[in-house]
Formats: sequence, structure tokens, C-alpha cells
Amino acid sequence: MTEASSDAIIRMFHVHKRYGAKSALKDVTLDIPKNEFLFVTGRSGAGKTTLLRLLYLAETTSEGQILVDGMNLSRIARDRVPYLRRKFGIIFQDYKLIATKTVFENVALVLEAAGRKPSLIAKKVKSMLRLVGMEDRMDAYPRSLSGGEQQRVAVARAAAGDPGIILADEPTGSLDEEAAATIMNFLDTFHQRGSTVIVATHDKNLMNRTHSRIVQLRDGRLWTSESA
Ligand SMILES: Nc1ncnc2c1ncn2[C@@H]1O[C@H](COP(=O)(O)OP(=O)(O)O)[C@@H](O)[C@H]1O
Ligand SMILES: [Mg+2]
Repeated sequence: MTEASSDAIIRMFHVHKRYGAKSALKDVTLDIPKNEFLFVTGRSGAGKTTLLRLLYLAETTSEGQILVDGMNLSRIARDRVPYLRRKFGIIFQDYKLIATKTVFENVALVLEAAGRKPSLIAKKVKSMLRLVGMEDRMDAYPRSLSGGEQQRVAVARAAAGDPGIILADEPTGSLDEEAAATIMNFLDTFHQRGSTVIVATHDKNLMNRTHSRIVQLRDGRLWTSESA
């Protein structure tokens, strides 16, 4: 496709995804270079969430192949899946924080799962929460936070494991303009620090503010419109 192919961290080749008779993705071929900030756009139902879910093996492709950092997802051994997943930090529209855990515990969870030392975990969680301005709410439970605050915690959680790739699925879909801008600024920060960032959104306002590449899905098919 482009000269970027050789340093692509994600490569999708003729990917199809079917749910029964429904084709959610049709013949999607896409290279995502390392450290790109990419928007995946398209109307509701176009296939954005499906595309993201295929990357971290929440779903498997029906046809075609996906390579993530050189790993072929159709051939990956079962015991390598956690290793694959740790390459991703994921942010959802509805935050998906665990209601029975504090802010601190929510962010710590990914690091515990990755087997990090408790002393290191505490340090890392605090530094991530400081970054998103939530350090003083460390002991709070999600229900006592605003939507914008919950999403800041979710951002801290997504980035805590230094994942390399941040996936954000309609990350600002439930937020007001100001909270949305805050979240986008954090995504910019991670991008500047070297992460690959992929944002799925149908919100055109989000995309006006950057010079990032935008790819569009229409009824499961990719329409590339490389922006300057
Ligand atoms: N688990 C599923 N079972 C059946 N159909 C699904 C499933 N997930 C998504 N779809 C369908 O696939 C299409 C793409 O959905 P989705 O990827 O969620 O789109 P978007 O995120 O762009 O709104 C839609 O028609 C949706 O109804
Ligand atoms: Mg979606």
C-alpha cells in the first residue's frame, strides 16, 4: 500500500468477519505503521468495533490474516494470547471500570495480571493517576466519579502496562466537549511518547483537530482517504 509497510506494527490482509449471514468486515487490507495516530471512522454498524476486536483476539477473523508485531493471529499458540493482549491498552466508550474496586485497584489490575512486583505496581499506578490528574481520587470507587473522571482512570489503566498500542473505541462518546478534549490530549501524549494509537469514532469533531490519517469503514469495507 505505502512505503510504511515495512515498519507496520499491524497488518491486515483481506480480512473478512462474518457473524452468521452478516458480513461485519469485507476484504479489509490495512497497514498501521508503528507510532501512527490513526482514526477509524464510519457510521454506527460500519464495523469499527469489530475491526478493533479482531486485533486483540476478542474475535477471530473468518478469512484473511492479521499480523500484530509480527505475530500471525490465525496461528498464534493459545498460551501466547496473554502476551498478545498485553501489547494493547484498550479504552471503551462506557469506561468498563470494575465497580467493586477502587480507582487504584482498577489501574493496578493489569499490572498484577502481568506479574509485576507489588512495589513497582504501586509506583506505576500512582504515576499514571498523577498523569491523568486522578491521584487524589485513588481510593474512590467508580460510582463516585463523573464520566470524564472515570474515563481518565480508564486511560490510566490502558496505558499502565506500557502497551505499545492504544485502542480507543468511541472513547469520548459519552463525554461533554471539555472532557472529550482532555481524553484526546492524553491520547496525544501517549502518541508523542511512542505509542501507536487507534481511535474508532463516528465523531467528525474529534478528527478535525489533528493531522492524523483517517480511514473510513462503509458497511464493512475500507475506504481510505489519506489526509495530509
Ligand atoms: N457479536 C455479533 N453478532 C452478530 N452481529 C454482530 C456482532 N457484532 C457486530 N455485529 C454486526 O456487525 C456489524 C458491525 O458492527 P460494529 O463493528 O459494532 O460496528 P460499529 O462499531 O462501526 O458501530 C453490525 O451490523 C453489527 O450489528
Ligand atoms: Mg462500535
